[in-house]
Order: sequence, then C-alpha cells, then structure tokens
Amino acid sequence: MDMFVVRGGQPLAGHVRVSGSKNAALPIMAAMLAVDGPVRLHDVPHLVDVRTLLDLLTRLGLQHSRSEADQTLELEVVDTTLCLAEYDLVRKMRASICVLGPLLARRGRACVSLPGGCNIGDRPIDLHLKGLRALGAEIQIERGYIFAEARQLRGAHIFLGGPFGSTVTGTCNLMVAGALAEGTTTIESAACEPEVVDLGNFLNQLGARIEGLGTPFLRIEGVPSLNAAGDDYRIIPDRIEAATLMMAVAMTGGDIDLENVDLRPLTAVVEKLREVGVTIRAMGNRVHVSRQGALRPTDCCTLPYPGIPTDVQAQLMALLTMAEGMSVITDKVFPDRFMHAAELVRMGARIRREGPSAIISGVSRLSGANVMASDLRASAALVIAALAGEGESAIRRIYHLDRGYEQLERKLQHLGADIRRVQDCPENIPASLRPEWSEVEDAEHTEKLQQFVIPRPHLFDRSESRVQRP
Ligand code: EPZ
Repeated sequence: MDMFVVRGGQPLAGHVRVSGSKNAALPIMAAMLAVDGPVRLHDVPHLVDVRTLLDLLTRLGLQHSRSEADQTLELEVVDTTLCLAEYDLVRKMRASICVLGPLLARRGRACVSLPGGCNIGDRPIDLHLKGLRALGAEIQIERGYIFAEARQLRGAHIFLGGPFGSTVTGTCNLMVAGALAEGTTTIESAACEPEVVDLGNFLNQLGARIEGLGTPFLRIEGVPSLNAAGDDYRIIPDRIEAATLMMAVAMTGGDIDLENVDLRPLTAVVEKLREVGVTIRAMGNRVHVSRQGALRPTDCCTLPYPGIPTDVQAQLMALLTMAEGMSVITDKVFPDRFMHAAELVRMGARIRREGPSAIISGVSRLSGANVMASDLRASAALVIAALAGEGESAIRRIYHLDRGYEQLERKLQHLGADIRRVQDCPENIPASLRPEWSEVEDAEHTEKLQQFVIPRPHLFDRSESRVQRP
C-alpha cells in the first residue's frame, strides 16, 4: 500500500495537461456492451476504476486492447452470452451498475450485484430500476443481486427525479436501454451532467437517436442496433480534475496553466473560485489560474449540474479552511459526504458539521499531519491541504485517489510541489510526524509531544494517595 509524503509551502507554477474524464469514460465503456463492432476510445485515463471496469467487461464478453503508453483503448464485444456482473468486482466500483442497461438492451437479461454503499453516503439504485421496469424489464432482487430480463424493451415515459435531484448513472443506464427499445422513450428530470451528454453523443455517433442532451428532458427514438466499424471517439476532459488543480494552486498561491480544459461545464466552480479570490483566464486551449492575495470566505451548496458538483465539495472545503473568515458548504447531493472534515481538523482546520452543512472558520495556518484518505475526492482534499500545510504530511490509503486521478502526484511535482509516493511503512513516516521521542528538528515540538506521550511522574505518582480513603 502506498502513501504520499508532502512538504507544504511551495507555490505551484508551470503547466500540466488534464486527463480525460473518468465519469465520462466509465459509462461509455459500459455502453460498449450494447454496441456491435469495434470502437477506439481516445483520452481514456489510466485509472484503477478503468482497469476494474475492464476486468468486469472482459467477463461480460468484451475484448479490449491498450498500450500503456497512450490513452487509446480499443473495445469490441466478442461474446454476447455472458450476463453476470459479480459482487467481487461490482463492490470495488459503484459505476459497474452502468452495465445493467446495456446488458438488458442488447442481451435481454442481466444478473448484476447490487453496488452497496460507500464512504460518501447511501448509493441507492431505485431510480435505475424504476426506469428499466417502465421499459418493460422484469426485475427481482435476491441475495444481493439484481436479476433482470426483457425479451424486448419498449419505449415509455420515465420520471427520473429523486429526493436529491436526478441520477447520473441512472440516466446513463436508461439512455442506452431506451436507445435499443422499441418505440419512443422520454426521460423527464434526466441528469444534465457533461459526462451524460458525452455518453449521448457517443451513442448518437453509433446510430442512436437521442435528443435533448444536456437538458432535463430527453427524447429517444429506439433503433434496432448500435453499430461501429472502428469508430473513433474522444472522451471529454475531466472537469473535476481541472477543478481540483485549480483549487490546489488557489491553496498554495502561484500560477499555473492547464491544458485540455473546457471551462463551459465549470462555470459554477469558476464563479465561486473567482469570488474567493482566484484569477482564472482562458487563453486559447489553455486556462491560466493564479492566486496572489488573501482567500475570501464564501457560502455554497453543491447541486446537480449546472450547480457546483458534489465531486469538488471536499477540495473546496480544504481551500476554505484558509479563507479569512467563516464559510459554509452544504452538500445537497450527498449530505453525508464529509469524512474529510475530521482529517482536515487534524491539520488544524476549524470545521463544524451541521447536518448536510459544514461551517468552516478560516485559520491562518494548517500544520502537516499524519492523515487518512476515506474516499476519492477526500484524498484530493487532503493533498490540497498538505500542499499548504506547514511541515510534512503523510497521506495514507491513497489507493482511494488512484481510483480517479491519473498520476496526480506527478502532475503536482511538475508544478513544483514537494510530494512523493512511498510505501506506507513506519520508516517512511516523516520523523516530524512520529509520536515517539525520536530526533526531530523541532525540539520544542518534541518536548511538547513528550509531555503527552510520556506522562510526567508527578501526574501519576502513586506514593501518596490523593484520594482520601473513608
Ligand atoms: C455519479 O454517481 C458520479 N459517478 C459521482 O462521482 C457523482 O458524485 C454523482 O454522479 C453525482 O454527481 C460516476 O459518474 C461514475 P447519482 P451516481 O445516481 O450516478 C440519489 C466521483 O467522485 N439516488 O447521480 O452514483 C443518490 O443517493 C463519483 O467521481 C437515488 O436516490 O450518483 C444521490 O444522493 C462519486 N436513487 C443522488 O441521487 C437512485 O436510484 C445523486 O446520485 C440513484 C441515485
């Protein structure tokens, strides 16, 4: 298992290229189960989640080839008889649920493990199943698996609104199912995220007839098949990675140029960052991001697109820990997505939970610490905080980060950050972070620690009982 060791305080400078979008690539790869013929996907990031989905797709009869060097992934279905998505893979990645719609649409049956919850909160799929049943699928849930059958899906009207807005992967599942259903499917309260639009554009390139992409109302004319003949398709840039890098330089100060960034799907994030004092300027196919002055506090809510995405909430919280004043962040999509707050507090942040909100009182400094990642975006938040923290930080369980960020530490190193990936073992923990009284530069810190780690005799002297016995 790896960890990051970060020495904070370095302003970022330079330029890096943002990778292709994880959350666009995964549903498009899953949709390949409904496509006849080969496709070449470009700008597919090298991520653990991509590899996990490829393992699952291989077990579902999809052949793939990819050279480690480039970002191109060639995919083609070679066996349409396989329909089991097993627990041991689905539990690793919720997005595996995206195979359900394509399997039903193209093979008429599917047995997919329920994805289960995760550290950011409940992850129900009731809306997915409601939509598929509306299209005529017979669905039973037994022993943690979804058993679904549909000789022929038939177009229907589906309302996809849930208590927290629409569903991104639910919309993906139902777009693919509707694309191969007989007749017309209309989806009301569909997700409008750019990643959903990217999947719709991909399907339309292969013969689907989906209208209204990017709006809450989709109209899908079913077609007999989706066909490819070596089609090329480029995955959109990862807007969440772009936002994460923007917040990193906002945290450390400095200025960077980002390549492969489309600012249009980031309007809400860009407006919020400008409000807190970050300069963001599009310059041709690059975006220049800098922060010189103080960070200003703000209030914000995460919302379905085009609102501020929940996937930048943790990173924004890290940034606001050093704003000059009180900020409030409310997550309206995943109200429990705050496991990163406690770790930020360990670095000196002042954060108080109030239900779906976190109240952040800005501090003038964060200190490096031994912290633990709990999920993908929480990992990124801890990296951002460590980049500004005084001294060294050890960020453990960064396997969470590897699921969704392609070589983040290399990109940050390229921008001047002092961040290293090392094996997670005691000798690699920076001496300044070890509780025992080892030699550390900061003698005062050691003395302070020893007061707590080694109880001073008089505090626990047993010679005289201070308790007056009756
Ligand atoms: C997608 O997850 C993303 N993952 C998530 O990104 C992202 O946080 C989320 O959308 C919201 O934008 C991928 O695209 C692979 P939802 P998804 O279904 O589709 C409730 C990351 O960090 N809901 O849109 O699983 C649900 O509880 C990941 O990259 C229902 O009530 O999210 C949540 O509150 C994390 N019933 C809200 O809707 C359902 O059937 C949004 O969930 C489905 C969802």
